[in-house]
This record gives sequence, C-alpha cells and structure tokens, in this order.
Amino acid sequence: MRGSRRLLVTGGAGFIGSNFVHYWCEAYPDDRVVVLDALTYAGNRHNLASLEGQENFRFVKGDICDRALLDSLLQEENIDTVAHFAAESHVDRSILGPGAFIQTNIVGTFTLLEAFRKHWETRQEGIFLHVSTDEVYGSLNPSDRAFTETTPYAPNSPYSASKAGSDHLVRAYYHTYGVPTIITNCSNNYGPYQFPEKLIPLMCINILIGKSLPVYGDGQNIRDWLYVGDHCSALDVVIHHGKLGETYNIGGNNEVKNLDLVNMLCQLMDELAPNLPVHSCKKLIAFVKDRPGHDRRYAIDSTKLKTELGWTPSVTVEEGLRRTVEWYLTHRDWWEPLLSEEYQAYYHQVYVS
Ligand code: NAD
Ligand code: DAU
Repeated sequence: MRGSRRLLVTGGAGFIGSNFVHYWCEAYPDDRVVVLDALTYAGNRHNLASLEGQENFRFVKGDICDRALLDSLLQEENIDTVAHFAAESHVDRSILGPGAFIQTNIVGTFTLLEAFRKHWETRQEGIFLHVSTDEVYGSLNPSDRAFTETTPYAPNSPYSASKAGSDHLVRAYYHTYGVPTIITNCSNNYGPYQFPEKLIPLMCINILIGKSLPVYGDGQNIRDWLYVGDHCSALDVVIHHGKLGETYNIGGNNEVKNLDLVNMLCQLMDELAPNLPVHSCKKLIAFVKDRPGHDRRYAIDSTKLKTELGWTPSVTVEEGLRRTVEWYLTHRDWWEPLLSEEYQAYYHQVYVS
C-alpha cells in the first residue's frame, strides 16, 4: 500500500486501542485515524482527549454489530486498514455473564468482517488486523514449551472461547473469500489507561486507597507480561510488513507468577508513593477463592515475529512496572471516576459474594 493510510480502529477508546491510537497518530501524522467505540464500561473518551479536534482524527460512538454504520463509515472514510480491538475483554466478567462476549466478540467480529469484505471487494486493497489473545491456546504446565502459532486452540473461559471463535472467522474469511486478514495473539498487556478490574491497575489502585489485594488461589499462576507500548510497536510492524493470512504471536518474554508480581508492585509503591494509607503494602495481600477454570500458565513464543519481521520487545518488566506505577500515582483524576457504583457492584460479585 502506498501513501498515507486511512485506519478504522475499533475499540480505540479502551486500554490497548487508545494506546495504539496515540502511538499511531504520533508515528504517522499524515494517516487518518477513525475510532469506532461503543463506550461500554471499559471505553473512555478521556483516553483520547488530547487528539480531539485534530484534523486527521475522528471519534465515532457506535457498535461493531451495527452493519449499516460500518458500511457507511468504511465507505465515507475510504478505509484501507482496519485495526480491530473492540471486544469484551475481562475473563471474570465472562464468567458472570458470557452473553455480551458472544455478541461483541463473535457476532461483532462477524459483522465487521462482512462489512469489510463488501468494502474490500470494490477496492481490492487493504488489511484487516484482528487483535487477539494468547488465551485461545489454553493453559500450560510448568515444563511445557511456550505457545507457538501452531499450538492447537484450547480455550477454557467464555472470554477465550469467544476470542477463539472470532479468530476462526477471521481465518475463514482469508481462506474462503481472500479477504486480506492478519491475526495477532498477544500475551498480558499492562501500562497506562488500563481499566481498574485487571490485575495490575487493580493492585495499584487498591494500594492507593488502602484496600486489600485479592490474589486468586495460591498466587502461583503465571502470565507473560508485555508493556502496552511494545504491543503497539509489534502491531505497527505487522500492519506494514506482515504476510496476509498469517498469524503472529506477540509476547514479552516476561513470565512472572502472580504473587511475585504483586510483591513487585508493593515494593514499587512503598518506594514511590508518599503517604500510603497502609505501609508496607504487602500487609494488604489477601488470598481469595480462585477464579473458576483459572488457566495456570501462559507463555508466548514470538520467534516468528522476531525472525520474519524483526520485532522484539524493548521494555523490561521492571521498567514497565515502574512506569505503570508512576502513571497510576499521577493519574488519580483518571481512575477515581471509574470506581463507580457499577464497578463496586461488579467488585462485590467477584470478590465478596
Ligand atoms: P478493553 O476492555 O480495555 O477495551 C475494549 C474496548 O472495546 C472498549 O473501549 C469498549 O468500549 C469497546 N467495545 C466493547 N464492545 C464494543 C462494541 N460492541 N462495539 C464497539 N466497541 C466496543 O480491552 P483491551 O484490554 O484494550 O483489549 C483490546 C483487545 O486486545 C481485545 O480484543 C482483547 O481481546 C485483546 N487483547 C487484550 C490483552 C490484554 O492484556 N488486555 C492481551 C491480548 C489481547
Ligand atoms: O493473556 C492475555 C489476556 O490477559 C487478555 O486476552 C485479556 O483480555 C486480559 O484481561 C488478560 O487476561 P488475564 O485473565 O490473564 O488478566 P487479569 O488481569 O484478569 O489477571 C491476571 C492474573 O491475575 C490471572 O492469573 C488472574 C489473577 N488475578 C486477577 C485479578 C483481577 C488475581 O489473582 N486477582 C485479581 O483480583
């Protein structure tokens, strides 16, 4: 593809989507970026505040299940690149209510694929990047090798099953219709703008408000942590140089046990935060009942992305966590309004009842 791009970023007001939009607008100021986001509980227009009013940026509030809206946006904006982030993304919510996950992650992705297929048939140029997760591969034992692109799918939660379903649809649109798609499967992200329900922001915020730090089960589950900026740079490389029809794993090479991670966060907070309600923060750690179907270990092998496209992560977990803790410390105005009644009700359901 030559010249400047015209992107439709679904879910661009969420955590990774908004980091990606900031990344892209800075790296490629001549490209046009249109964000489509339904602004669910996880979407936040403030995440994009500094871009509002810029000529090459547009925000549209809307649902990826709305076919008429998709058709008109793709056509009127002459979109060539879809970066599809929109999803219900939290495993615990998928256990409480899987319906929304089927609707957005499967029906929504299908609707977007259909709209893009029709649009692409007249243009014959473009790319549909589907942003997915390592959770589709299931759970690893301690001695198992990390997930590669050929690891069989074995999702264990309604969230990962719905993402797996969407991945299969994307793959099928490439093979059946020739729609130019690429899938990325990424490990756990962290960094600025992550909604408080996820492990790292939840722990940071609970420390700052003096609430207990709920560690599921024995705290020995392992996740492979990737700083969100590194995820964005990987997606950049994939959009520009990825091979159509392919899948790329993206990971941080940072396998950490949950309890070790929470201890690292406590140490950083003790060091960086003045006047904490409880000091030392480790006193707040509380083991709570485990998540049903809790995957034991994820680990991503991103050799393909490294050898074929030259991408490697650049932020160590120590540096990334320090940056993240500093961000939550200095952005109380961002997270305080998110501890809404709805959030408290959700919190009660998961951690108390
Ligand atoms: P998020 O929950 O923070 O954001 C999701 C965004 O999608 C929100 O802005 C929300 O308003 C929007 N959205 C939800 N339903 C929609 C709909 N029907 N129509 C339009 N917009 C809708 O999620 P995230 O953590 O930023 O994840 C983004 C994507 O990356 C997801 O597809 C997720 O599966 C994938 N992913 C996430 C991680 C991670 O660690 N967070 C890792 C790998 C892959
Ligand atoms: O692996 C990629 C996935 O990472 C993404 O696809 C998902 O969208 C994203 O939410 C994330 O899923 P996880 O379930 O791994 O992330 P979460 O932050 O919810 O939990 C991380 C680990 O911490 C997990 O083992 C569960 C544990 N945990 C989580 C919370 C919220 C706790 O022990 N206590 C908690 O309160």
